[in-house]
Amino acid sequence: MNQPQNTNAWSLYWSEDRLYSCVAQSSDEDQKTLNKLWQDFSQELEPNSRVLDLATGNGAVADALLSVNNSLQVDAVDKASIDPKKFVKDHGNLANVNFHAETDIFDLSFKPSTFDAITSQFGIEYAGLSEASVQVMPYLKVAGRFQFVVHHAQSGIILSSANKIIEFEQLTQQSGILETLIDVLGGKAEFAQLEAMGQNYLKQDLIRSEQISGQVFAGIERVINGFASKPKESLELAVAMDLRVRSELTRLVQLTAAGQNSDTMTAWLEKVSAMGVEAAFSPLYLDPIKQDYLLGWLATGVRRK
Ligand SMILES: C[S@@+](CC[C@H](N)C(=O)[O-])C[C@H]1O[C@@H](n2cnc3c(N)ncnc32)[C@H](O)[C@@H]1O
Repeated sequence: MNQPQNTNAWSLYWSEDRLYSCVAQSSDEDQKTLNKLWQDFSQELEPNSRVLDLATGNGAVADALLSVNNSLQVDAVDKASIDPKKFVKDHGNLANVNFHAETDIFDLSFKPSTFDAITSQFGIEYAGLSEASVQVMPYLKVAGRFQFVVHHAQSGIILSSANKIIEFEQLTQQSGILETLIDVLGGKAEFAQLEAMGQNYLKQDLIRSEQISGQVFAGIERVINGFASKPKESLELAVAMDLRVRSELTRLVQLTAAGQNSDTMTAWLEKVSAMGVEAAFSPLYLDPIKQDYLLGWLATGVRRK
């Protein structure tokens, strides 16, 4: 079975009531730090400034910007089929954002020198940091500013993704547990096969977490328990679970690939500097004093000509 297409994984992810993607699940400290960063940036912008938020997801950055400066005119683009006004509840600021779904950074139709500011949070680097920056800088007005929060290859979120990727790969491998479940429900394999596979999985020295394998096993149990009375619905549930797991794997693989190191950031700096953009980057820590948890890179600058 193939992995879902890259954009579909994000479309599925954003079709729920969620505002954030690349933050730790266990605490909201990282999101608070990032929100403060965007609010500070927003407060430095003139009223009615035009802002372009790249790879916006469900509009986390737009929401933070507007929360302290509600006269901003924000356009927010994403390649996925986003619809934040439909899916995200309790974030009234999003009503004032002009969202552009299914819009690739490389395919924008704004006039050059349109925006006072361009923003991105864990977004532009998914399109290729240097190439996409070269593409979007002309949309800034001269003296317009940008601020990007970019994945750092050594950040907490990327380091913690490595084990999750292995776990998702185990679950989705060819003829693995999820494929066999679907085969069993479709009459192409025996229950005994699935049971043996499940027991093996639990016995073997594999990476298993409650959050991933635990949830999948609980899902499998629910599907099997309902199969006798509702076979069609059970098969549909199993297919949906398989798609969700594969989508998560796709997202985490992309997230890891988007991580930048100091060499790629330096190459980015050279590229944008050559366009007349004054730019800088630095590591962004959750706690700048302790420096023990890296959130990403902070890349900022101004279009000078
Ligand atoms: C990690 S999410 C970040 C979303 C949001 N900025 C946030 O902080 O919650 C990365 C997003 O980049 C989008 N993306 C990837 N490549 C893109 C491209 N070439 N053009 C526009 N969006 C892209 C994905 O669809 C996804 O929604």
